Amino acid sequence: MSYVITIDGPAGAGKSSVAKAVARELGINYLDTGAIYRAIALILYESEVRAVDDYIMREALSKIKIELRGKEVLVNDFDVTGEIRTPMVDELASMYSAVPSVRKALLSLQKEQEKHGSIVAEGRDVGSVVFPEAMAKFFLTASPEARAKRRYTERIAKGKPADYGEILKAIIERDKNDSTREVSPLTIPEGAIFVDTSDMTEDEAVKFILCKVREKLPDETE
Ligand code: DC
Repeated sequence: MSYVITIDGPAGAGKSSVAKAVARELGINYLDTGAIYRAIALILYESEVRAVDDYIMREALSKIKIELRGKEVLVNDFDVTGEIRTPMVDELASMYSAVPSVRKALLSLQKEQEKHGSIVAEGRDVGSVVFPEAMAKFFLTASPEARAKRRYTERIAKGKPADYGEILKAIIERDKNDSTREVSPLTIPEGAIFVDTSDMTEDEAVKFILCKVREKLPDETE
């Protein structure tokens, strides 16, 4: 039986690490939809396609080929995996993902991933728009302060420069953009289980999700 699990939520709620761990535990694929938005945002920006001109935008989108190969994201056969995790791309992705033609262009690419077997899909609208029929849906969140603290710690651990105040400000701004945009705003999908990870470890969040998923997979042996 092939199935889909969705994990939506704001930036820094721990979705990526939790979704990856859940996929690993279940032995199924992990789909990072944010990486797709990041890749398209980077290429549109570098091609100087601005969000205001819908015709030019649609023309440009029709010429962009995005491919997912395991953890790698390829844009027109060019590997951008290493370039899409920067504060600048955080902002670009938030901005371009609010453009209706961008979301439309990326919808089928995301849906197609279901063909390769069961998946844990992570994003902002995977439970509401991309896979509304998913077997299990989760909405992972945490307070802006808890999320900023995690991002700060992550960056420091990677030896990257970090300023807690700046990170918190950027998180609040991104939350605002992602939840007030007209198309597919960040919302709690119907039927999703709400998980506040502010006071939870990653391991606890993973265990909680696995427990809920296994309730729906009665034949699975642990
Ligand atoms: O999860 P992330 O930070 O990598 O996502 C980057 C941006 O992409 C984020 O600002 C919101 C957007 N996004 C989206 O609009 N819909 C998704 N399904 C995934 C990400």
